[in-house]
Amino acid sequence: MTAHTGPADSSQFPAARAGPKIRGQVESPVHSAVPRHVAIIMDGNGRWAEQRGLPRLSGHREGVNAIPRVLDVLAGRGVEYLTIYAFSTENWSRPSSEVEGIVELLHETLQRDTDILNEKNVRVFHIGNAERLSQDIRKAVERIQDMTRDNTGIVLNVAFDYGGRQEILAAVRQLIRDGVPAEDVTEELFSHRLFTAHCPDPDLIIRTGGELRISNFLLWQSAYSEYFHTPTLWPDLDDAELERALDSYGNRQRRFGNITPDPGE
Ligand code: IPE
Ligand code: IPE
Ligand code: MG
Repeated sequence: MTAHTGPADSSQFPAARAGPKIRGQVESPVHSAVPRHVAIIMDGNGRWAEQRGLPRLSGHREGVNAIPRVLDVLAGRGVEYLTIYAFSTENWSRPSSEVEGIVELLHETLQRDTDILNEKNVRVFHIGNAERLSQDIRKAVERIQDMTRDNTGIVLNVAFDYGGRQEILAAVRQLIRDGVPAEDVTEELFSHRLFTAHCPDPDLIIRTGGELRISNFLLWQSAYSEYFHTPTLWPDLDDAELERALDSYGNRQRRFGNITPDPGE
């Protein structure tokens, strides 16, 4: 797991080393019209099902089915990292039948798709806590991470039992446990204690399902992310709308607090 047992070895990820910086944008490489890291809040599965008179779990199943297509489109466009928000720390508060169904769906998906993702050269990471998952699921998560470790294609971060506040607190606790002196705590050091130590910050965050909120997703990492939101429910997000999100990103001016655009633009 990439849990808080220590940061991933970012030296294997040249892309991460060259990732966008919150400050010092002069150091950042040429601003590309294509986001390097896209993160998606995949919301609206329940409503998708309810609109069809189906149980909510059918919506979650349809939501999982939508992921490979989105992954292919983004990888085809040159996106290097995709983070998908599958289950938040707060989602445990849903009725147990829904939670159990989603957890089972995770297990099924890992069993069904591990080889497919590996064949596609995707590198998979779990971001979030593993403690509440069963031994079987944890093993399946470890298996997919190990199996795809040397893959060189798009990096897929699956945020499951993920919460931004909890991630920040865990990083703070880890810094204290490591005995890091207060004056040595820098943004970079802190970032390397997060689940996303192996990635640059997200350039573009897409939220489907119409809500205009962050719902505890990538709170630290999203400091200068661009947002795209759509009322389309996650299972209905088609290639054309995904292209619209990418086009919208391509037309933004990122200033990172400065008054001139990113120098690469
Ligand atoms: C997002 O869809 C998936 C999870 C949060 C697990 P929802 O289940 O939140 O769908 P809506 O928002 O109720 O439609
Ligand atoms: C956010 O959706 C979490 C995921 C998509 C996994 P929610 O449906 O849980 O968010 P809220 O409750 O509407 O903020
Ligand atoms: Mg929702």
